Amino acid sequence: MPLTPVITEHWDDPELFTISGYRRHGGYRALESALTRDPDALISLVKDSGLRGRGGAGFPTGLKWSFVPQNDGKPHYLVVNADESEPGACKDIPIMLANPHALVEGVIITSYAIRAKHAFIYIRGEVPEAIRRVANAVREAREAGYLGTDIRGTGFDLDVVVHAGAGAYICGEETALLDSLEGFRGQPRLKPPFPAVAGLYASPTVINNVETICNIPYIVDRGVDWFRQFGTEKSPGFKVFAVSGHVNRPGIYEAPLGITMRELLDYAGGMRDGHQVKFWLPGGSSVPMLTADHLDIPMTYEDMAAAGTMLGTGTPMIFDETVSVVKAVTRWLEFYKHESCGKCTPCREGTYWITGTLEKFEHGHGTEQEVETLVELCGQIMGRSFCALGDAAATPYPAALKYFRDEFVAATTTSADDQFDPVASYVFAGAVAR
Ligand SMILES: Cc1cc2nc3c(=O)[nH]c(=O)nc-3n(C[C@H](O)[C@H](O)[C@H](O)COP(=O)(O)O)c2cc1C
Ligand code: SF4
Repeated sequence: MPLTPVITEHWDDPELFTISGYRRHGGYRALESALTRDPDALISLVKDSGLRGRGGAGFPTGLKWSFVPQNDGKPHYLVVNADESEPGACKDIPIMLANPHALVEGVIITSYAIRAKHAFIYIRGEVPEAIRRVANAVREAREAGYLGTDIRGTGFDLDVVVHAGAGAYICGEETALLDSLEGFRGQPRLKPPFPAVAGLYASPTVINNVETICNIPYIVDRGVDWFRQFGTEKSPGFKVFAVSGHVNRPGIYEAPLGITMRELLDYAGGMRDGHQVKFWLPGGSSVPMLTADHLDIPMTYEDMAAAGTMLGTGTPMIFDETVSVVKAVTRWLEFYKHESCGKCTPCREGTYWITGTLEKFEHGHGTEQEVETLVELCGQIMGRSFCALGDAAATPYPAALKYFRDEFVAATTTSADDQFDPVASYVFAGAVAR
């Protein structure tokens, strides 16, 4: 399947990040056209395109926009989720660095469609280069008359605020992001009400991922039929796949949804010489892992679900046979334990317990019984946490056990590290065994 560079098409132009560079490649043409259309027609267009959110959950974008109540007399807001912090995910930051005006143009069109006069771009704070690029693009768009009051004489007003996060993974969860944006500690809110009805400052708010919003100008400019020629009925369009791990050419490969991991692997130069695929994850550490037996499954939302995993952020991480699956899963759990916001008990306590037990395994302590008990513990977290971070933390271990049970059992009984004191480190680890 050939690659389909669209968002990434002109990344070899070193001036693409400037407004003149972007305009040279047709930039802001879609906005001029969008502003002549009825906002509701734009919502219908995006609905018809079948575009699904690229932030991980794959929710239909046009449908989300249509949930915003119209003529309700309240301010509406657009919030772009640019907090990209998922382990393995590295697509939104490169997009913002290389093509920030696609994001700004998408923000303006989306705001016009949902009738928002204020938009916010919440960017991961650890990436000042991306913040500077996007802030610069917003400034250039304002100077060009694409932002401000009475944009292009249409009577439409829009201001865009670029906001830097402060380094918490949970602030990528959309309602925690809203709390953070309002100046509170970033912790998830109870849903419902959903943000489309009561989001930022209790007003209707659309929250979309960077890549989702970057698709908008291209769909408006080239149309639904063009977009739907790529991908499948349920997963139309293309995707910015960011391939990382033990491949010869890790990087960004924009391809139609439905491409297989084997094809992406070919584009990425194959596994490093003399090595084979051991396990891989289609889109971040929060989705269940697959093995070399799954390389020919189309990378679509529906096919990944049928294979027992998720497309997630569409940023595959591939590991070769030199990697201990026990160590990899333990590192991810250490991340979730660290990033758990502590609001709910299953996740706050559960991530601590899973991590402690895995660290015990990693150091050669534990029993075969504990290998099973840990599955039960994950089951107590899955579906019982306040937000999806808890579910994400409960995902890697059972998924890994499905394919690599022997490795976990062997780890508990071999190469015991006498320097590691499981009792002192995790006093509750014995309780897990009970
Ligand atoms: C812990 C956690 C972290 C998340 N981080 C991000 C993120 O960095 N970027 C993102 O777009 N979505 C992230 N999400 C998903 C968002 O909650 C939300 O679904 C997404 O921004 C919606 O945009 P979309 O419909 O365009 O995909 C995260 C979710 C969770 C539970
Ligand atoms: S699941 Fe974890 S991150 Fe989410 S609210 Fe509960 S403690 Fe916080």
